[in-house]
Amino acid sequence: MSVKIAAFLGSPRKNGNTELLANAAASGARDAGAEVETFRLADMSIAPCKSCGGCGKTGRCVFQDDAIRIHDAIRNADRIILASPIYFFALSAQTKAMIDRCQAFWCEKYLLKKPVPPGPAGRKGLLLLVGAYAKSDEGICCAEVCAKAFFNTVSVSDHRRLSYIGIDGAGTIREHPTALAEAYEAGVNLTKSDGYVK
Ligand SMILES: Cc1cc2nc3c(=O)[nH]c(=O)nc-3n(C[C@H](O)[C@H](O)[C@H](O)COP(=O)(O)O)c2cc1C
Repeated sequence: MSVKIAAFLGSPRKNGNTELLANAAASGARDAGAEVETFRLADMSIAPCKSCGGCGKTGRCVFQDDAIRIHDAIRNADRIILASPIYFFALSAQTKAMIDRCQAFWCEKYLLKKPVPPGPAGRKGLLLLVGAYAKSDEGICCAEVCAKAFFNTVSVSDHRRLSYIGIDGAGTIREHPTALAEAYEAGVNLTKSDGYVK
């Protein structure tokens, strides 16, 4: 059985830096035998969470849009890739909307005490972040706190972060000396059953 990976791409910019990183990681994972399904969040219909409380009793979101496809992919995945540009020192709105709709998993885990099963080898995550601001990694750190809460909620207890700052124009990540090779390698490592060294 091949490792199943769900990759969530949170940049609206086609052929942008986040997409190139996510594609490199997906190529590495596929070359190592994994099945990767990529979800381009900007092209999906994912409304922000309305805090209707509907998921509180069942752990299932009652609002029918593309978030339901995301939920199914998360349940079926052994590994999760979350890739986002930094917007205003945080994850992009597309990424955040998807995460907020995972409140259903939060209810399932913490209220109903039925977390998504971690699977025999444990669920692992890969977080890919790109920002333009080069003077500090504050935006990366803020984004990672949110991403970590998401990962924990969907039983991904361990994730690796690859982040790049000072990268702005579409596709300029290609000029970075190591970024795409590191993302490819991280994708390969993500498929390993014993996890991977950070
Ligand atoms: C709305 C918006 C807000 C942004 N805010 C930040 C920021 O707070 N910090 C930062 O480092 N870069 C910021 N950026 C720059 C992007 O993170 C940067 O251009 C990144 O490389 C975009 O990745 P992409 O090509 O995958 O979209 C912002 C860009 C946009 C469009």
